[in-house]
Amino acid sequence: MRRPVSVAPPKGKLGVLTPGMGAVGTTFMAGVELVRRKQSVPVGSLTQMGTIRLGKRTDNRVPKIKDFVPLADLDDLVFGGWDVYPDDAYEAASKAGVLDAKDLAKAQKFLKNIKPMKAAFDQTYVKNLHGTNIKKAKTKFDLAEQLRDDIRDFKKKNKLDRLVMVWCGSTEVFLKPEDIHKDLPSFEKAMKANHPAIAPSMLYAYAAISEGVPFANGAPNLTVDIPALENYAKEKHVPIGGKDFKTGQTLMKTILAPGFKARMLGLNGWFSMNILGNRDGEVLEDPGSFKTKEESKLGALEYILQPNLYPELYGKIHHKVRINYYPPRGDNKEGWDNIDIFGWLGYPMQIKVDFLCRDSILAAPIVLDLALFFDLAQRAGMRGIQEWLSFYFKSPMCAKELYPEHDLFIQLMKLKNTLRWMMGEELITHLGAEYYD
Ligand SMILES: NC(=O)c1ccc[n+]([C@@H]2O[C@H](COP(=O)([O-])OP(=O)(O)OC[C@H]3O[C@@H](n4cnc5c(N)ncnc54)[C@H](O)[C@@H]3O)[C@@H](O)[C@H]2O)c1
Repeated sequence: MRRPVSVAPPKGKLGVLTPGMGAVGTTFMAGVELVRRKQSVPVGSLTQMGTIRLGKRTDNRVPKIKDFVPLADLDDLVFGGWDVYPDDAYEAASKAGVLDAKDLAKAQKFLKNIKPMKAAFDQTYVKNLHGTNIKKAKTKFDLAEQLRDDIRDFKKKNKLDRLVMVWCGSTEVFLKPEDIHKDLPSFEKAMKANHPAIAPSMLYAYAAISEGVPFANGAPNLTVDIPALENYAKEKHVPIGGKDFKTGQTLMKTILAPGFKARMLGLNGWFSMNILGNRDGEVLEDPGSFKTKEESKLGALEYILQPNLYPELYGKIHHKVRINYYPPRGDNKEGWDNIDIFGWLGYPMQIKVDFLCRDSILAAPIVLDLALFFDLAQRAGMRGIQEWLSFYFKSPMCAKELYPEHDLFIQLMKLKNTLRWMMGEELITHLGAEYYD
């Protein structure tokens, strides 16, 4: 990839479309509205609160990221989305039960105006949903055409300059890449033939790319991570990425595991248990959707610990992940980890982590950062997979000859160095030999 010569300024309005207006989608929309009215602080958002060091440590140049790169202003964001249920964003947020009534009341009028467009949906792919706000069409290709019309209408009606799409829809059943995913002609032919290996999320990704709209996948489904769509995105100069927002338990895993490896501490096993009671939890009760999530959650440790390089330390790890739907817990998930490590001479030790987290509170700032960074990438002329945004994902997409980078700290360094590179600043290696000449 060549360094961008210039980054186009963020003129006009940016539309943020979310297929899926459930707990995450609506918490994101409500939160941005409260922040722009100065009634809250965007905690958890790197684009809004993060800083970036430029030049030498003695230079004292540490601007906020949003003052360093030309990001869209929060006041210029316009929200829209699709959902299987017809509830407007206020009703959906009330049902999701993430934000309390006091916060929701402040954003009520604003949220009431965000009404979901009819979804491209098929229950074969998400068993535990029974909505009515669903498009009808003869073929999957026709559904994708309807989504393209929605995107164009939304842009026109709201007088938008640009758009981005972030999948905040439910986790679909586990699908494996097949021949029909290998190139665009096979993929389009399969859409027209209603092939079962074309999931609804792929139709949104296809529609977004066709309309020149960057697409990020917040769920673990096989969606934009297939050769047909990866190459299509490159050809259309559209940035894409995914997948699965890195929030609660996996965030902790990718913070802790690099620490164990840095100290050359061994690991025998990692047992991860979750109880959650939101709609996401209900969808994950279905074994097909759970399998998709499990695959996504299991990958991180293997890649961080590199058992092939450290067989004595990480050659025999028992890694298990369990998710249990437990309605009383609502969106306030409990992620419990038992970690069996060992130290000097192989003596065992245990670490217990009990994270009483709020899933959508952790996910909402990720949606915001992804929307702003994907828009930035497009204005910088970057296309295809945006590996520098791996920081936000449980299963980061990368070029096919690479392995994904899961270590949160390497991911952050890569993200910030990409911003420096984009803006023509010196990269930071942390060598610092010059201070000791
Ligand atoms: N909350 C987190 O921390 C977190 C972390 C990582 C990933 N995720 C993923 O993000 C997604 C959203 O999570 P959530 O907690 O908001 O779930 P949710 O169930 O509250 O919302 C998902 C919404 O998507 C809708 N939907 C499903 N299929 C659709 C389709 N084809 N078109 C349009 N709408 C569709 C559903 O009706 C639902 O309202 C899930 O896939 C979840 O696994 C969430």
